[in-house]
Amino acid sequence: MARLFDPYTLKSVTLRNRVAVSPMCQYMARDGLIGDWHRAHYASLARGGAGLVVVEAAAVAPEGRITWGDLGLWNDAQADALRPVVAAIREGGAAPGVQIAHAGRKASANRPWEGDDHIAEGQPNSWTPIAPSALAFGAGLDRVPVEMSLDDIARVQFDTIKAAIRARDLGFEWLELHMAHGYLAQNFFSPHSNQRADAYGGSPENRARYLIETLVAARKVWPEDRPLTVRLGVVEFDGGDAMLEESIALLRRMKAEGLDFVDVSIGFNTPDAKIPWAPNFMADIAQRVRRETGLPGTTSWYISKPDEADALVRDGKLDLVMLGRPMLETPHWPYMAAKALGVENPAWATLPPPYAHWLARYR
Ligand SMILES: Cc1cc2nc3c(=O)[nH]c(=O)nc-3n(C[C@H](O)[C@H](O)[C@H](O)COP(=O)(O)O)c2cc1C
Repeated sequence: MARLFDPYTLKSVTLRNRVAVSPMCQYMARDGLIGDWHRAHYASLARGGAGLVVVEAAAVAPEGRITWGDLGLWNDAQADALRPVVAAIREGGAAPGVQIAHAGRKASANRPWEGDDHIAEGQPNSWTPIAPSALAFGAGLDRVPVEMSLDDIARVQFDTIKAAIRARDLGFEWLELHMAHGYLAQNFFSPHSNQRADAYGGSPENRARYLIETLVAARKVWPEDRPLTVRLGVVEFDGGDAMLEESIALLRRMKAEGLDFVDVSIGFNTPDAKIPWAPNFMADIAQRVRRETGLPGTTSWYISKPDEADALVRDGKLDLVMLGRPMLETPHWPYMAAKALGVENPAWATLPPPYAHWLARYR
């Protein structure tokens, strides 16, 4: 029976514990380039004691950014700027992971604290979103995207592969393909945003085509011994019930194509969803996905209490516990949790001496 502070091994990667930092956009990049903010942010998250730190959504192409402040991985300068972040995460004792993404029809938005809505065409920091069909999300993200041609599809897949190669060469140990939250891959998967009449739309198999092709292509360049993972929005909470079944079928096919792990999340692909927010509310769904696909997996969303996080692992619901906002609030959440749970020899044993020496005696 595994516990929250037991190590977790997947392929060649061993995490010191099962607390993972969920990817969280900082919207503080310029032209996709990170700066001092990111270096301090990720160093603090890693030395906070988590086993895995997944760097925020890095756009594979300029038009794939959610906002103009998103991180990018479409050129070598952006990759070079990330090098100290990878090093700092390692130095803090965590494994460095990264999520690569294309925002699809939600791209070209204002930063969350500046409105979270689309920037009008022709305004500074605005560009034209692209998506499987010319259908707007709505609710302030009202710009109608340009329907992608087959060439556009091939180009974004190629961009994704190039970003995966950059992530590989930077030494990231864990790659997450962003296929959730109403961004491009989710746009292909969901009938809310995909009404194509070609091989990429219509049946569940056709709507899954973009996602499978992208995964297969990523697997070719991502080393076999490093975990290749996806974050998939498996439920929409929009009154329909087909999506979870379709997601499970998709993940089974992906597993056969080399997928190693799934981060179970929400579609966020229609503004009409009624999401039953509550502590740990995605855990049972994640458990079902894990059971029915045979993939190891995780979820996040309002998991914040150490004993509950521990129980999710102990009860076999999750392999890892992903934390977002709790880690912003308390970057040293893993220490606090280990202390609260009375765990011996927890994360700080692997920390650099200026922290490890003192924290080991402060119990
Ligand atoms: C500031 C912020 C930025 C986020 N950026 C991303 C992101 O880049 N990629 C992603 O998949 N999810 C993103 N999310 C969602 C988180 O990864 C996480 O799933 C969510 O916050 C729920 O977990 P929590 O309740 O522990 O915060 C973001 C959330 C926050 C709060």
